[in-house]
Amino acid sequence: MTAPTTPRPATGDPIETLRDLTLGKWISQAIYVAAELGIADHLKDGPRTVAALAAATGASADGVARLMRALVGLGVFADAGDARFKLAPMGELLRSDLPVSLRGWVRYMGHDVSWRPWGQLVESVRTGEPAFDRIFGMGAFDYMSAHPDVAAIFNDAMTAVSMMETMAVVAAYDFAGITTLADVGGGHGFLLASILKAHPQMRGILFDLAHAEEGAAALLAREGVADRCRIESGDMFARVPEGADACIMKHIIHDWDDAHSLTLLGHCHRALPAGGKLLIVDVVVPPGDEPHFGKILDLEMLVVTHGGRERDKAEFRRLLAAAGFTLTRVVPTLAPVSVVEGVKS
Ligand SMILES: C[S@@+](CC[C@H](N)C(=O)[O-])C[C@H]1O[C@@H](n2cnc3c(N)ncnc32)[C@H](O)[C@@H]1O
Repeated sequence: MTAPTTPRPATGDPIETLRDLTLGKWISQAIYVAAELGIADHLKDGPRTVAALAAATGASADGVARLMRALVGLGVFADAGDARFKLAPMGELLRSDLPVSLRGWVRYMGHDVSWRPWGQLVESVRTGEPAFDRIFGMGAFDYMSAHPDVAAIFNDAMTAVSMMETMAVVAAYDFAGITTLADVGGGHGFLLASILKAHPQMRGILFDLAHAEEGAAALLAREGVADRCRIESGDMFARVPEGADACIMKHIIHDWDDAHSLTLLGHCHRALPAGGKLLIVDVVVPPGDEPHFGKILDLEMLVVTHGGRERDKAEFRRLLAAAGFTLTRVVPTLAPVSVVEGVKS
């Protein structure tokens, strides 16, 4: 498992390099449309012509032909001869029927709920305020709660990201010794289910807003850990579940400013026993000028969240200390996230 490709400036001609970097918008939307139309699913049983793909997806033959030509050029699909197209390895990742799929991620990245706020990044940079709220009139998580169809797309995206990261986290961090693990803001619970599967004696508590409950129940059952994991719904800024000796939060702290993070970490501190572990799974921004996934992800936080940000190790250390935890170590993984381990002091 490798880290996702980071936009990486080529070393060649600056004109070409800058132009190519700005093509990201076109490329992202083209891949999104392929995912939205389900083209990969229509190719999973073998090559098909443009006419067949257009008929299957209800799209215009001319549009599909041009989309496929562009995406063959990018290596997502391939020419199978006889005017037919087939899946390339990247295209396989857009199938909806495989356990490792990026379809959910791609659908979120190109969906209005993400696309429109990014179109107003300039306002977020000018004001420091989330463009999301300006456009949709409320915060992203309130919007998800009010729009289950959009929440489903977002949760699928999180599950797709989780799939990429979970194997890396389970391989890198030693969870042995934890009896009950609470996953706070655990979404549909893919991370928790994977940890429980790797540790048959461990029990889990999956905590999130009510909108995640149905998908979570299905996922835990599918993964065969429902009997060892209870689901609790609630607002993590009001409480977190009692009864765990460790709390894990993946892509949660980066959603919030320091004040909200401290409220949340304070609840974890109260809920955990002495010596209890706090495990924050997030990007830890490395020092230096090298390109890093977290440096671009940080802009997503700027556009979508109220004060969310990617933090470096010193910032995590200060945050944990202010909440009564000692940062004991930062465990890197093969994915762009690390496990920031704190112990209740
Ligand atoms: C970025 S997602 C991360 C999901 C999951 N941990 C993962 O890594 O795949 C943030 C999660 O926080 C949850 N969340 C947001 N506000 C919350 C709140 N006030 N109480 C509980 N969960 C909340 C969302 O529903 C969502 O599942």
